[in-house]
Amino acid sequence: MGLLDGKVAVITGAGRGIGAAVAKLFASQGASVVVSDLDEGPAQAVVEEIKKAGGKAIACCGNVMEEATNQALIKAAVDSFKGLHILVPCAGFCNDSVIQKMSLEVFRQMVAIHMEAPWMLCRAAYPVFKEASADGVIRKVIFISSEAGSRGNAGQTNYASAKSGVIGLMRTVAKEWLRIRVNSNCIAFGFVDTRLTQADCGSTIMGAKIGLPGNLRQMAEQGVTMRGGRLLTPEEGAGSIFCLAIPQADGINGQLVEVDSGVGI
Ligand SMILES: NC(=O)c1ccc[n+]([C@@H]2O[C@H](COP(=O)([O-])OP(=O)(O)OC[C@H]3O[C@@H](n4cnc5c(N)ncnc54)[C@H](O)[C@@H]3O)[C@@H](O)[C@H]2O)c1
Repeated sequence: MGLLDGKVAVITGAGRGIGAAVAKLFASQGASVVVSDLDEGPAQAVVEEIKKAGGKAIACCGNVMEEATNQALIKAAVDSFKGLHILVPCAGFCNDSVIQKMSLEVFRQMVAIHMEAPWMLCRAAYPVFKEASADGVIRKVIFISSEAGSRGNAGQTNYASAKSGVIGLMRTVAKEWLRIRVNSNCIAFGFVDTRLTQADCGSTIMGAKIGLPGNLRQMAEQGVTMRGGRLLTPEEGAGSIFCLAIPQADGINGQLVEVDSGVGI
C-alpha cells in the first residue's frame, strides 16, 4: 500500500534534481508518473529506474515553454494512465546578472519558464480536472518557487520576479479551482544541492549557463551554514512536495511553504 496508490502525476523537470526525486518518490508510493524534461536521456533513465523498482512511469519530453508540450503532457497522462491527479511544474533554470547588465530578453526568458510554463500546464489540465471533479477526489497542483521569489535575491531580478509571480498564480488557482476540488500550494526552496546550484557545471540551456560560478557557490554555501542551516538534498526537497501531495494533506490549500532547513526564520 502506497500513500499515492491510484494517483496519476505529471512532473516537469523530472530528468534531474528535485523533479527526478519527486518522480521516484511518487512512483514508490504507488503513483503512475509522467516524467517530463527537456532532455530525453535523463528522463528515460528516471523512467527505467522507476520501472526496475516495480513502479509505473512514462517519459514525455519537450520544452515546457511551448504550449504544445504542456498539452502533450496532459494527454500522455490521460491516454497512458486514464486519469490526472497531481501536477508538479518543476522544470526550471536560472540566467543571472544584475539589472543593469540584464537584457529584456533574459528577463522574459525567466518569466516564460517559471511563470508561463506552469500557467500553460494548468490551463491544459483544466478540462480534465473539471470533468473528473464529480468523483469528489481532491486533486493537486504543487508549484515550485524559491526564496529568491518570496524574499528577493541580488543578481536575480528575472528569476525572483518570476518565482514571486508563481506564488500569485498558486493563490489565484487555489481560489478559482476551489469549486472543482483542486488544491493549489507552493514550495519555495532555499538552497538545494542540484545541477542548478553546482559550481561551474558547464551545461547550458537556451544560452543560459547552468550552475553557479565556483566562488558564488562557496559564498552561498557559507551563507547557509554560517546561519546554522544546511544544503538540502533533492530527496529532502521531494519530501516536502510529497507532504502536500498525499490525501492526508487535503486540507492544505493556497499555501506557500518555505523549505530551507530553517535558515529563513
Ligand atoms: N536547487 C535549488 O537550490 C532551488 C532553489 C529554489 C528553487 N528551485 C527550483 O526547483 C526547480 C527544480 O530545480 P533543480 O534544482 O532540481 O534543478 P535541476 O537543474 O537539477 O533540474 C531542472 C530540470 O529542469 C529541466 N528543464 C529546464 N528547462 C526546461 C524546459 N524549458 N523544458 C523542460 N525541462 C526543462 C532541466 O533539463 C533539468 O533536468 C526549478 O524550478 C528551480 O527553479 C531550486
